[in-house]
Amino acid sequence: MKVTVFGIGYVGLVQAAVLASVGHDVMCVDIDEQKIDNLKKGIIPIYEPGLTPLVEETYQNGLLNFTTDAAKGVSHGTIQFIAVGTPPDEDGSADLKYVLAVAETIATYMTDEKIVIDKSTVPVGTADKVAAKIAEVLAKRKQSIPYDVVSNPEFLKEGAAVSDCMKPDRIVVGTENEKSRVAMRELYAPFNRNHDRMIFMDVRSAELTKYAANCMLATKISFMNEMSNLAELLGADIEAVRHGIGSDSRIGYQFIYPGCGYGGSCFPKDVQALVRTANEINYKPALLEAVESVNYAQKQKLFTHLSNHFKGDLAGKTIAIWGLSFKPQTDDMREASSIVLMKALWQAGAIVQAYDPEAMEECQRIFNDNDNLALMGTKESALKGADALVVCTEWSQFRAPDFDLIGNALTTKVIVDGRNLYDPQLLNERGFAYYAIGRGD
Ligand code: UGA
Repeated sequence: MKVTVFGIGYVGLVQAAVLASVGHDVMCVDIDEQKIDNLKKGIIPIYEPGLTPLVEETYQNGLLNFTTDAAKGVSHGTIQFIAVGTPPDEDGSADLKYVLAVAETIATYMTDEKIVIDKSTVPVGTADKVAAKIAEVLAKRKQSIPYDVVSNPEFLKEGAAVSDCMKPDRIVVGTENEKSRVAMRELYAPFNRNHDRMIFMDVRSAELTKYAANCMLATKISFMNEMSNLAELLGADIEAVRHGIGSDSRIGYQFIYPGCGYGGSCFPKDVQALVRTANEINYKPALLEAVESVNYAQKQKLFTHLSNHFKGDLAGKTIAIWGLSFKPQTDDMREASSIVLMKALWQAGAIVQAYDPEAMEECQRIFNDNDNLALMGTKESALKGADALVVCTEWSQFRAPDFDLIGNALTTKVIVDGRNLYDPQLLNERGFAYYAIGRGD
């Protein structure tokens, strides 16, 4: 099938490459010329396992193409994906200006029937706004061309995006148009094997499904983080509690890992956006507000542990940080706990020596002229002469480190572990002051 994808960010690029890999003819459109030029040269703007070879292969065999020419993009695909960003406004609501600009572009150039698919995470009611925008432009053009606006939210996880897209748990499609349903079945047939993963519903339910899924997962995490705070105060071990509750299949083991708060481009943004949507319709989303505020507080925890240990005197101290990305297998630092920690440390007069397997360039880009940040080439060099080590991200190379080496490199044997990677008893026996999440001091 002929497919056009507007917005070659994370979701758009992965979706486009995966669709091309099964034989669809995909045109990627973005306004960023540099990005499009780079993609043509095989330079991929993000780190995502498996993505680079997929883009290279599909580009070489001609099924994946890149352009900044919007008219060309519109004429190419019967199916037009909108996968542009929806950054939060100052008030937390999703900013739809890019989504509506693409709708306008499609309506400006379309000459035949189109299925327009909202792939970006957009507030409930956006498909109606996209449809209205297309109708408005077509009316101005005095054209009557059929179209349908479908909601088809994306559920991929960063770091596992390609495999999530190749083997989706479910494919949610919001439309009441029979022709669109048939087209969506055909588009996704290569990924809809063994059992039917396609779930059809009305447009608004599909839009809300996306937010509900992310907010449920964020709720599980904030719930566990709240339990971890209680565990600390009550002298219990949250890791034992996690094991104890996860074994109940109604609760399950997934997404109940306590930590230094959830980050990334999705959970923080989507929880805030749904709070905002609720406020707009005069509903007070008490649970969602609590999920957000627990997460905010949780991101301060690593600094609090350090500050308590050093009795509030962090001025002139050097703190080693392992892990800058918001989670492993990505270079993405959006809403990462490491940023909250580093800013608090600098505020307190401390110096940071940091290492991350993938996010060093990104960190450099964000804090390029900060004299109090040293980005180190290895996890060992980040420790040298530091007064404490903080683990922010659970990259596998941090899971079983040489504790003798850590003890020798640090000036004081202090480890703050934001991901509960280590055994508190073992570290205490080795003379470390070890602070984790919900495991006592
Ligand atoms: C999330 C969802 O998991 C995807 O299903 C969804 O498609 C995506 O958002 C999206 O809306 O695009 P992602 O943000 O890539 O995916 O990352 P997650 O793996 O969900 O992790 C989010 C954050 O939660 C990370 O900071 C992670 O450290 C934290 N987390 C996760 C915990 O603190 N505890 C857990 O048990 C699990």
